[in-house]
Amino acid sequence: MGKSIKKLKILIIHGPNLHLLGTREPGIYGKTTIAQINASLKKIAHDRNVTVCIKQSNHEGEIIDLITKTNFNGLLINPAAYTHTSVAIRDAIAASAKPAIEVHLSNIHARETFRHTSLISPVVRGTIMGFGPASYTVGLKTLLDLLST
Ligand code: DQA
Repeated sequence: MGKSIKKLKILIIHGPNLHLLGTREPGIYGKTTIAQINASLKKIAHDRNVTVCIKQSNHEGEIIDLITKTNFNGLLINPAAYTHTSVAIRDAIAASAKPAIEVHLSNIHARETFRHTSLISPVVRGTIMGFGPASYTVGLKTLLDLLST
């Protein structure tokens, strides 16, 4: 038997309230649902022959468990409101020592002052924000490019 080549595995995490996409404040977040975003991410994964594990969680501890107990090669995360509050998620990403990209649908710097600080940005390779669902697709493509170079 020949050596089997393992596919790259990307962990994709949507943080709190993102299950509501499509109906949640559409003037800010648009009308695209999380299912539609996930479908476009799965298509990219299929085209690039990688595996994606996509999770949405409203719970900080669950997000930390996902990051620290799952086997993955790269992380794409929209930490949502935890972006601005969670030292624990930041520490989990740093502990994973894996390439990570942070994404946001909205431009957090163009919004309320309390959203201007991301505790996550210092521990990721980069942040893509303000492009709606395209923040995710650009983020995933960029992460795959990083992992293949
Ligand atoms: C968000 C921006 C956050 O400030 C907010 O709490 C969210 C979504 C975005 O994708 O634009 O829930 O991460």
